[in-house]
Amino acid sequence: MRYETLQNVRLPKIGFGTWTIGGESRADYAQDSRSLRALRSALELGYTHFDTAEGYAAGHAEELLGRAVRESGLMRADLFITSKVSPEHLDYADVLSSCENSLRRLGMDYLDLYLIHWPRRGMHLADTFRALNQLVADGKVRHLGVSNFNLKLLKNAVAVSETKLLTNQVSYSLPDRTSVKNGVLAYCQENDLLLTAYSPVKRRFIRGNRPLQELARRRGFTPQQVALAWLVHQPRVITIPMSFDPQHQAENLVASDIVLTDSELAQFFNL
Ligand SMILES: NC(=O)c1ccc[n+]([C@@H]2O[C@H](COP(=O)([O-])OP(=O)(O)OC[C@H]3O[C@@H](n4cnc5c(N)ncnc54)[C@H](OP(=O)(O)O)[C@@H]3O)[C@@H](O)[C@H]2O)c1
Repeated sequence: MRYETLQNVRLPKIGFGTWTIGGESRADYAQDSRSLRALRSALELGYTHFDTAEGYAAGHAEELLGRAVRESGLMRADLFITSKVSPEHLDYADVLSSCENSLRRLGMDYLDLYLIHWPRRGMHLADTFRALNQLVADGKVRHLGVSNFNLKLLKNAVAVSETKLLTNQVSYSLPDRTSVKNGVLAYCQENDLLLTAYSPVKRRFIRGNRPLQELARRRGFTPQQVALAWLVHQPRVITIPMSFDPQHQAENLVASDIVLTDSELAQFFNL
């Protein structure tokens, strides 16, 4: 596994997402055993960074993640847990109570990273960050970040936060290079921020991409692994694919070690 190191944190290039664990926008308890199986295998395989949110399955993803971690017997200190505050909870008092609720559902006494999940029109970013920094001062959160912030909002967030931000989590994949075009990736790389790439596996795109399949076949990997390798070969980029399938989970972990050559990058990825 390769890592990104900054702010005294060593984060694996590939972590584990939890969107659809426990349901989608609502909790789906009928899926609990499937969700717990997925979390248990991810923990057993050695994933250490887990990405969740109060909005995932209306908090049930956090409950299941907390349970799987407790049952794993792993040390809390050996894991890195990210959660997110929803856009409807960005007022000062709401941020504090959202974090308390996430910690209660996870059964943990701190989060490694707490993100603003989405910006909201008319939000008072300074107030939101006053609350987020209070959580850091209280020891409930170790690091702060944002998600789905464009370049202008990201710069605003960097300017108002007392604690240096760790990441902007955005959609980034071979077919979605918005963050390259809008300057977010370059800004992160130049300012020691991580870009956490969400939705990195685009199955439909991969199915229709013959060159990617050809490169994967030549190198003896799956096209999904090559797509992840392309993401994480980039400095300051980490990613958090989600999979219910233990085989896919294992393959995704391995992807961090695939080294793409300069000629492969030029030939297959239009760099
Ligand atoms: N901040 C935000 O607004 C935001 C938005 C979206 C997502 N996220 C975070 O990012 C995480 C990842 O994004 P995502 O869940 O949207 O999409 P994703 O991880 O790119 O894709 C998940 C899908 O890809 C399949 N898959 C994963 N690995 C595979 C492999 N090696 N081979 C074949 N298929 C594979 C999975 O199916 P199988 O189960 O069959 O493997 C699943 O259907 C989320 O879980 C969430 O934590 C954040």
